[in-house]
Amino acid sequence: MTKDLLTLASFPDEDFFKVLERAELLKAIHARGEERFTLKGRSLAMIFEKSSTRTRVSFEAGMSQLGGHAIFLSPSDTQIGRGEEIRDTARVLSRYVDAIMVRTYSQESVEEMAKYASVPVINGLTDRHHPCQVLADLLTIKEKFGRLQGLKLAYIGDGNNMANSLIEGCVKAGVDISLACPEGYDPDPGVLAWAKHARRERRQSGARAEAGRPAVELVREPEIAAAGADILYTDVWASMGQESEKAKRQRHFKGFQINQEIINRANPDCIVLHCLPAHRGEEITDEALEGANSAVFDQAENRLHAQKALLELLITGRYS
Ligand code: CP
Ligand code: NVA
Repeated sequence: MTKDLLTLASFPDEDFFKVLERAELLKAIHARGEERFTLKGRSLAMIFEKSSTRTRVSFEAGMSQLGGHAIFLSPSDTQIGRGEEIRDTARVLSRYVDAIMVRTYSQESVEEMAKYASVPVINGLTDRHHPCQVLADLLTIKEKFGRLQGLKLAYIGDGNNMANSLIEGCVKAGVDISLACPEGYDPDPGVLAWAKHARRERRQSGARAEAGRPAVELVREPEIAAAGADILYTDVWASMGQESEKAKRQRHFKGFQINQEIINRANPDCIVLHCLPAHRGEEITDEALEGANSAVFDQAENRLHAQKALLELLITGRYS
């Protein structure tokens, strides 16, 4: 069992599948109002160097539903913003709380926090990865299709943190992933190399690659990625921290959008996912976001259930 969740690639398969399984159960328990306080008396520190609605509220509500407590920390009112080193913050927080969640810019900062913290560290989004989102995405896909293996996900847009974590999560889960990214906006080369290697080791995974298509495919045309897809996924053209590139990106990403035409290329029972927040009229149309195929609000809800399962696993160190 792992101590931290930093990326999905480094998250052991056993933990990955247990979290998804436990999340389904926790969701059912929550719906019946039979919550058990498995994290009673436990605390989570949440460091946010970027904005958040879903991540902050779902972690905070999740801790409270499990009988624990979450502490929101922003750089502007902690010593982090005044330059206290990560290695010092990590060791100090480890003396007070049972886990630390970090949303920040560089992946290396989260890795350093994990190195120095004696408690679990959870990556709540960096420029390179967003593993918690993908746990919720896979939970949503599993709910909608009753399985993961052999499905095809088409990702249309920026090869950003979402794309990187989706590649890692899909490879682990046996979901084929076809990404349509404009030239110059490909996913992280290290992630693509990992996927190639992991795929070789996982020939038995059941993904459709055996039928002659690569399980991880990078193309330039959204229509090609969307063909026959079960899941259509997109994310913003300009992520947090890229605000100055907004105008340039609006030009480069034109056409990289989920709209009715793209939905028509996918399987008729396809679902549309978006990690949110969305920019209607850019990466997704209002029609696609609000339409019959959209599962974005179930997806957003599932952040809560997936993270409760993750918190239980990492904090208690066992599969409940
Ligand atoms: N999807 C997601 O992480 O949303 P927030 O930025 O609101 O946390
Ligand atoms: N790619 C987006 C995801 C937001 C949840 C960003 O990093 O801003």
